[in-house]
Amino acid sequence: MFDMDRLQKQSGIIGTSVGIHQVLEMITQVSPVDISVLVTGESGTGKEVVAKAIHQFSKRNNEELVVVNCGAIPEGIIESELFGHKKGSFTGAGEDRKGYFEQANKGTIFLDEIGETPLETQVKLLRVLESGEFMRVGEAKTRKTDVRVIAATNKNLAELVNNGDFRQDLYFRLKTVTVKLPSLRERVEDINAFIERFALEFTRSNDIRYRGFMPDAVRLMKQYEWPGNVRELKHFVEKVLVLEKGERITADVVKRELTDVLPHQTSFNPALPILVSKSTDKAEIDLILRQLFMLKQDTELIQKLLVGGAVTPTTATGLTKIEPIEGVQIPQKSMEIVEDGYRFIRDDAIGDMLIKDLEKEAIKRTLNFFNNNRRKTARSLGMSERTLYRKIEEFGVAPKIKSRR
Ligand SMILES: Nc1ncnc2c1ncn2[C@@H]1O[C@H](COP(=O)(O)OP(=O)(O)OP(=O)(O)O)[C@@H](O)[C@H]1O
Ligand SMILES: [Mg+2]
Repeated sequence: MFDMDRLQKQSGIIGTSVGIHQVLEMITQVSPVDISVLVTGESGTGKEVVAKAIHQFSKRNNEELVVVNCGAIPEGIIESELFGHKKGSFTGAGEDRKGYFEQANKGTIFLDEIGETPLETQVKLLRVLESGEFMRVGEAKTRKTDVRVIAATNKNLAELVNNGDFRQDLYFRLKTVTVKLPSLRERVEDINAFIERFALEFTRSNDIRYRGFMPDAVRLMKQYEWPGNVRELKHFVEKVLVLEKGERITADVVKRELTDVLPHQTSFNPALPILVSKSTDKAEIDLILRQLFMLKQDTELIQKLLVGGAVTPTTATGLTKIEPIEGVQIPQKSMEIVEDGYRFIRDDAIGDMLIKDLEKEAIKRTLNFFNNNRRKTARSLGMSERTLYRKIEEFGVAPKIKSRR
């Protein structure tokens, strides 16, 4: 057994909260034993950091840690990526190829976003977990690998099992040893240490003078909910340091920048219009859809103007009324935002829209909104990352992406 201090120093895992100490304790217990581990927790809570620490403190630390993002590999090639393939087994399979499980032989494989694995592949994962056995795609020969598996997810796997999207047997096999990472909200006391560490690292490597955060600024940061957890905090610290160019970070700066990032944070700025009953992501997508429909409405208005309608603003509703000019055919259908927060399209507008166009527009805008962060975009649109990748390619809304990280 090794001590906690050394573990923290070597793994870089920060924190003195009870929550993170429990995680560290788990790491010390499970690392030396060759069992599979499931790491759960919200986005940005440090699942990958933990997976790396487990490998680092295991007997396998001189061997490779192969990181696979199961959510980012297209469904059609995931088995060939994981288990390899035989030459000619499908179009494009020019050579025999090793999969990640073979590459990780004697080492560790980190299956990130395990909840995104297709059901058929899950059967094969269960087999390799239980016996180390697998087959390359297009080959009948059973091969063996000696791999320690660490899996991670920010999904509720039990829920996926209930919905039939995740195999129960694989779930039971995986969850025996679970390391659950607390959200940053549940370990607010660690925020000081995170700020200091991230600020020092960043200013040092970017030659920025560091004068610290004012106590009021830190206090404010502790009140914020950090839905993106440690990752969001880290990026935030880096951003304000760049914006303030070597000045001390004040509460005013923090307030300004936090209001900017997430205008829907209820607890933070109650004055802003938000959809309180909905989750963060849902509220964001609602906002984007609303903008989208407003845009469509504007376009229609302009079209109508062009065919010769007169426009009279009606102050009572705030909406614009179109007065048709005699003899001119004006399309009567229009869309309007219905303010109950759930219906966006007036019934008589139905029949006018292509889902595909709306989808493309929504994806484009959501990507933009999240600075091209595909994971957040997928989550907020309620689709899997894989589906998002496919649609991005299909619609050509972003540059081509790689099939693994
Ligand atoms: N306890 C911690 N100490 C130091 N750094 C941390 C800690 N937790 C998270 N981080 C940092 O926060 C960022 C996000 O961590 P990580 O990528 O491990 O999160 P994750 O849980 O895998 O997120 P996602 O679900 O979005 O993949 C990284 O930059 C990581 O270094
Ligand atoms: Mg991760």
